[in-house]
Amino acid sequence: MITAVAERPCMVCGDGSPMEPAWARIVAFHQESSNTASYSLQFVDPEKRKQYQFLPGQFNMVYLFGVGEAAISISSDPTCCDTLVHTIRHVGSVTFAMNKLKEGQCVGLRGPFGSHWPLESCRGRDILLVAGGIGIAPLRPAIYQLLKNRDQYGRVILLYGVRSPQDMIFKEEVEEWQERRDFQVLITVDYPSEEWTGPVGVVTKLLRRVRLDSQRTSVFVCGPRVMNRAAAHSFLSHYVPEDQIYVSLERNMRCGIGQCGHCQYGPKFVCKDGPIFSYASVRNLFGKDEV
Ligand SMILES: Cc1cc2nc3c(=O)[nH]c(=O)nc-3n(C[C@H](O)[C@H](O)[C@H](O)COP(=O)(O)OP(=O)(O)OC[C@H]3O[C@@H](n4cnc5c(N)ncnc54)[C@H](O)[C@@H]3O)c2cc1C
Ligand code: FES
Repeated sequence: MITAVAERPCMVCGDGSPMEPAWARIVAFHQESSNTASYSLQFVDPEKRKQYQFLPGQFNMVYLFGVGEAAISISSDPTCCDTLVHTIRHVGSVTFAMNKLKEGQCVGLRGPFGSHWPLESCRGRDILLVAGGIGIAPLRPAIYQLLKNRDQYGRVILLYGVRSPQDMIFKEEVEEWQERRDFQVLITVDYPSEEWTGPVGVVTKLLRRVRLDSQRTSVFVCGPRVMNRAAAHSFLSHYVPEDQIYVSLERNMRCGIGQCGHCQYGPKFVCKDGPIFSYASVRNLFGKDEV
């Protein structure tokens, strides 16, 4: 059995409506790179702490009083929900404000929301994870699950692309993963430093270095829009079936519960039907810039 909840877990929010956040305290902080940090959070209410569960790939709406809310994936181990981690790149109003918070201060959380990586249905298959930049954050809970249940999967491979070696996040952990014999980890950078001796170029170039058995491989992709598109098309051209290519999509979000229409993607809502979609289910929309 896979050691995590199998069905979509219940949402934890404040006491009133699903739009009301529950307070969570920052109990630890780790600077991952110049513009990205991981925040370990614990619900202030011990009941909510006990109640909270999530599946790999799901996200919370993170609320900062007086600033706003942003959708942020959960980057921690789904079997340890007492403390959950959000890894955040500081790019705009909410995330810049998050950067000013200190340990002991609180943020609001609503969640978990959205679909998850299909670890159950992919049992017995080779799993190829493709991460671009901060896209490794929503894949990390899936990696923990795969490694905990390593005997239930075929080959497990991570292709990880970053702009430069300094932009790599979860660095120590990625290095530990690279030491394992049952996990193939390949990293590429766009802009190498003088010390960098590894591959250079876009993440899809790493495919050449991987022995791919297309009929027994499931692919999980998360990165910038252009990378998602290139990766999906690359796997299709390697004959991976389109229902075995899963992509995590990003859209601006407001409610997170399929009510406001902000995240609409054709007939689908990214907050509720996604963010993780099989390529087969979004084939007609995928690649269009604005739908
Ligand atoms: C399901 C999901 C999961 C996500 N997970 C993560 C995660 O784990 N970690 C993470 O860091 N992010 C994650 N994101 C992305 C995050 O939600 C967005 O980056 C969010 O917009 C950040 O909120 P903000 O208020 O800080 O930025 P915003 O103020 O919304 O700005 C976001 C972007 O828009 C640009 N921008 C802002 N204002 C303007 C303007 N007036 N004109 C033009 N451009 C502007 C900014 O430069 C920035 O690039 C996720 C998104 C989704 C949908
Ligand atoms: S964020 Fe409101 S419908 Fe998805």
